[in-house]
Amino acid sequence: MKPFILLIFFAIMISVSSCSQTNTGKQGSNKNGSVIIGGNCEGCEAIYESNLPFEKLNAVDTLPDFKETGPKIEISGIIYEADGRTPANNVVLYVYHTDQQGNYATRGNEKGWGKRHGYIRSWVKTGKNGFYKFYTLVPASYPNSKNPKHIHPIIKEDDKNEYWIDEFLFDDDPYLPEEERNRPKPRGGSGILKTYMKDGMLRATRHIILGMNVPGYPDAG
Ligand SMILES: [Fe+2]
Repeated sequence: MKPFILLIFFAIMISVSSCSQTNTGKQGSNKNGSVIIGGNCEGCEAIYESNLPFEKLNAVDTLPDFKETGPKIEISGIIYEADGRTPANNVVLYVYHTDQQGNYATRGNEKGWGKRHGYIRSWVKTGKNGFYKFYTLVPASYPNSKNPKHIHPIIKEDDKNEYWIDEFLFDDDPYLPEEERNRPKPRGGSGILKTYMKDGMLRATRHIILGMNVPGYPDAG
């Protein structure tokens, strides 16, 4: 009987972890024994699945769901170096999120992590001004859940391994718990978006500070 219960337990754990960033924040290490910035991160390597090579990525992108029905939003900001002041050049930001039904929807032709992250994903890369922007729809909570709606972000800097930062969350989301609002050490800075309407579209700003509260980050103050 016990092995059967264990099997069910592991099946549930695998199911719950389908949104990828089931990270513990514990430090990991690679094959060479050096510290992995941000700890082990299941699915962070999806950042390497962009259709364009990194050098051809733009600072602005539109996610594939933008033309679908739903609340359109423009999210933009500056990515800063660990000093919190210097705009960070050449930083790739990968984002993915659920569709309007709360699913990581696929189209059937996905490969690699796209099978789990779905087709609603994007890659942008900062220039010297650190600026990034993407257009998408506000995602929905997981089906039949009170999980706050969120967008997963993963960062890749030139000379460092990829790592996750705090999810983009929505300040007006009734499912956003107080403890999440008041969490003391958000990775990369707070991801809670305060949206406003302008010219018929929601807008929000999130600045990101590289390495902030990210374990193993070498330059963080
Ligand atoms: Fe998720």
